[in-house]
Amino acid sequence: MQVNPLTCSIGAELAGVSIADVARDDTLFAEIKALLLKHRVLFFRDQDISRADHVAFAKRFGDLEDHPVANSVPEHPGLIEIYKSEKRDHFENTYHTDASWRACPPKGAVLRCISCPDVGGDTIWVNMVEAYKHLPEDIKVKIAGLRAKHGIEHSFGAIMTTEEREELVRKNPLVDHPVVRTHPETGEKILYVGPFSTHFINYHTPENVRFGQDKTPGASLLLNYLISQAAIPEYQVRFRWKPNSVALWDNVSTQHYAVSDYWPAPRRMERATIKGDRPF
Ligand code: SIN
Repeated sequence: MQVNPLTCSIGAELAGVSIADVARDDTLFAEIKALLLKHRVLFFRDQDISRADHVAFAKRFGDLEDHPVANSVPEHPGLIEIYKSEKRDHFENTYHTDASWRACPPKGAVLRCISCPDVGGDTIWVNMVEAYKHLPEDIKVKIAGLRAKHGIEHSFGAIMTTEEREELVRKNPLVDHPVVRTHPETGEKILYVGPFSTHFINYHTPENVRFGQDKTPGASLLLNYLISQAAIPEYQVRFRWKPNSVALWDNVSTQHYAVSDYWPAPRRMERATIKGDRPF
């Protein structure tokens, strides 16, 4: 197997390996797992595999989960269809970590390209350990111990009726997570806010608030500043898809953005999402 890093910060392409073999080979699996922790997103080309192979590979890392809004492939629970057609219904063109609106957000995902436009429809991944590391020291002090709420309503619920949205929220209530979480396997600190984050829950303290009026703008400016860090190109890798390309990512320490520049061309992807643990 050859390992070709794609940037100095994040991402490597692995050549000479079939992910179908990884599912059956413990040594190869251990190697891939170590490379994932190092490069955070791994890319594999020409993976002419079955859906069962895709699922079996992802299951090496943990149990899979469905999505409350996206459909799963009927015969393969946990394999989500991310199919785009002439209908302009893009949700993934924002920097995000998958499902941070869950109390235990997924630890990783395996995305396979079924079909894609010849040009366009790239995906960008971001190293959120680097994003944290390069924050100014005074910001690091300010956000240590802060927690933020994360919700599904204002993204996936936005085009629903009020009744549908209320049902979505009843089943997926707001959760709160540390703004700086720790990677359970490497101990690294990770900036953990994104577009699902709605507000801080413990910002309104005497240190942060002089008079009542400055609490809301102060908190939301800080939250927006933190969210904007994912857009810094030095923390990113951008991947050009072809049919049968696969990406495996660490959903704890990265964010990603599916570039929506190909409409109305179709793009069909399938994602196996791996259950994770409660952030700390
Ligand atoms: C996702 O946000 O998980 C999907 C990314 C993509 O379709 O490129």
